[in-house]
Amino acid sequence: MKTFIKNKNTISEKDNLLILAKNTDNLSNLNLQKKEINYIKDQLKKDVEIITINQYSRELIILKPKDNHDHYLFLEETRCLGFKVYDQIKKNSYIVIKNLSDGSINTEAFLEGLALSNYNFNEYKTKKDDIKLHTIFVNSSLEDEKLYEIEKIVEAVKLTRDLVNTPFSHLKAIDLANEAQKAGKESGFKTTIFTKNKIESLKMGGLLAVNQGSIDEPTFSILEWKPKNYTNKKPIILVGKGIVYDTGGLSLKPTANSMDIMKVDMAGAGTVIGAMHALANTNVQKHVIGLIPATDNRPSGNAYAPGDVVTMYDKTTVEVLNTDAEGRMILADALSYAQKYDPELVIDLATLTGSAANTIGHFGIVSMQENARKEHDLLAQSGNNTHERLAEMPFWKDYDALIKSDIADIKNLGGPFGGAITAGKFLAHFIKYPWIHLDIAGPAWVSSKYQYRSKGATGMGVRLLYDFIKNKK
Ligand code: BES
Ligand code: ZN
Ligand code: ZN
Repeated sequence: MKTFIKNKNTISEKDNLLILAKNTDNLSNLNLQKKEINYIKDQLKKDVEIITINQYSRELIILKPKDNHDHYLFLEETRCLGFKVYDQIKKNSYIVIKNLSDGSINTEAFLEGLALSNYNFNEYKTKKDDIKLHTIFVNSSLEDEKLYEIEKIVEAVKLTRDLVNTPFSHLKAIDLANEAQKAGKESGFKTTIFTKNKIESLKMGGLLAVNQGSIDEPTFSILEWKPKNYTNKKPIILVGKGIVYDTGGLSLKPTANSMDIMKVDMAGAGTVIGAMHALANTNVQKHVIGLIPATDNRPSGNAYAPGDVVTMYDKTTVEVLNTDAEGRMILADALSYAQKYDPELVIDLATLTGSAANTIGHFGIVSMQENARKEHDLLAQSGNNTHERLAEMPFWKDYDALIKSDIADIKNLGGPFGGAITAGKFLAHFIKYPWIHLDIAGPAWVSSKYQYRSKGATGMGVRLLYDFIKNKK
């Protein structure tokens, strides 16, 4: 399912071409007839985005993304154009892209949109409708290295989508850990997997409590990318929620549909694996560590119960008032564990709350920060670059009172409002370093196609993290 992206210096007469152009100025060397040029001119005037010319041995498709005075929205239009033209060209085994717009249309964005559209999840179909498009050639001045980078970013997003689309029946906590290890062997990061004994000896009470109802053992995976010439003094840590399935536990989710997609609940972990894969594959010189606590959340005779008090890894006591608020229980232990690395910055990603999804839908990522104003703003900038945008929530002190417990240090349930924020406040109890929390419950999964992001798992967050870490000073 890989899409190769390569340079091609000479165009043959049989190559189907995708041409990025804002006008007909540079079309002269394509041997077009006068009436073809006039037709293209006419269509461009009418603001048609996709103009198709069928020639004897090839198809020419002229593309002009919708104008937008906002630079970032124009980039996004360009990605979306990749998606819009995809159905028309997917029958080809390869296609050649040529940009004749004198740089006013961004080739990278178009490539990204097109390559990300070239995805389906076929794993469990006995009759597979396999993808035909294997290579996207580019006839431009873009360096091989740049094309390789785009290829690897796209590959990482697809890896994340595959992991998230894989059902719980085929992806238990140990499988998720093994998949991380497999990706690391391919791209170059190292994976250490803690199994139940080790997690017990570390006394990761939050992870163990959620795992009590499971028939499978939990895992805690440490992914490390430490290239030779890394430039950051202290590591950047990515923490991903790895709930491989969330029934809610004893506070069972209502069956009417709300459980159907709960294999999505390891999307934070999937995003961390995808981002690490892209960073290692492209040899980004930053020291990055991924932490993934993983288990499913189920009811059983031994399941943790509302009313329980749990002692966490950092010795905080937590009153459990809803077993469906399990993500924060396992993340808290990972966040406390992160302290031992004396990190420069920790970013956690989690499908944490329905509240986040209800607030902004799938159009972006709900964010919060503590001690990381500057880093958050840089991440928001990456959000604009990649159109994986951040919507920052207020994180006022006032909310702290909502997670106070009568009988323990804190409780795992907030008040009747601001559910995404009180979940964030719970996590904030466990951090002492610069920290950004990303609640991806909305964008991690879509029930119908969201442009080039596909249907089902989107992989949203991978390009964001990559852009941020790569560009971080
Ligand atoms: N995994 C869910 C959140 C979720 C909802 C993810 C929708 C993806 C789509 C999380 O564990 C959860 O159940 N949260 C509860 C918390 C509540 C009990 C405080 C919620 O948001 O309802
Ligand atoms: Zn839950
Ligand atoms: Zn959950």
